[in-house]
Amino acid sequence: MIAPSILSADFARLADELARIVGADWVHVDVMDAHFVPNLTLGLPVVEALLKVTDIPMDCHLMIDDPDRWAIGYAEAGAYNVTVHAEAAGDPVKLAKDLRAAGAKAGLSIKPGTPLEPWIDVLKHYDTLLVMSVEPGFGGQSFMPEVLDKVRQARGLVDTGHLNLLVEIDGGINSETIELAADAGVDCFVAGSAVYNADDPGKAISALRDRAARTRGGA
Ligand code: DX5
Ligand code: ZN
Repeated sequence: MIAPSILSADFARLADELARIVGADWVHVDVMDAHFVPNLTLGLPVVEALLKVTDIPMDCHLMIDDPDRWAIGYAEAGAYNVTVHAEAAGDPVKLAKDLRAAGAKAGLSIKPGTPLEPWIDVLKHYDTLLVMSVEPGFGGQSFMPEVLDKVRQARGLVDTGHLNLLVEIDGGINSETIELAADAGVDCFVAGSAVYNADDPGKAISALRDRAARTRGGA
């Protein structure tokens, strides 16, 4: 699955930019609060407006402090998947239950320096694990291959039935790095600049998906 990130889109024309990502499985929306990360993007009112103009399932990535207080609004608004950061959540199990009760999938994200082990039990309550492959905050950064060990570990836990979730990766995904990520066992690839900086975002999405599928297929 390919989830283009609108962080690299033209913020003055977001409805048009959503229409350009033909064939996207999800649309990834990066919410930043200038506290959890050193950048500020958009929040619930903009997400609500975007939900009205697209049928693409929305993947909200909340890079914010106190998600225990704020995440539920995104689920109630109709986001398909709401991802909070493990480093910011106070009671991540309760948060997952609340998100699911509000009708959304629940996602947990870990920054590049955050290990997976301490979160494995918590992840039993989650539908997606978002492994950050850059320091969260900005688009267009270089992929950090050292996070792939965590991807392999998560893939193993899913394949052996210990966890039941989608493994998602975010940051620096392009036509080369997607092969490394696919080989390590990623299910869903977030791509911002690789999709929105392309002349034809729809073509870029299908090219990325083909590359990932070929790698996962062992070709
Ligand atoms: C970074 C965001 C990413 C970002 C990815 O903090 O979470 O979703 O948009 O952008 P690229 O694909 O350009 O690295
Ligand atoms: Zn993101």
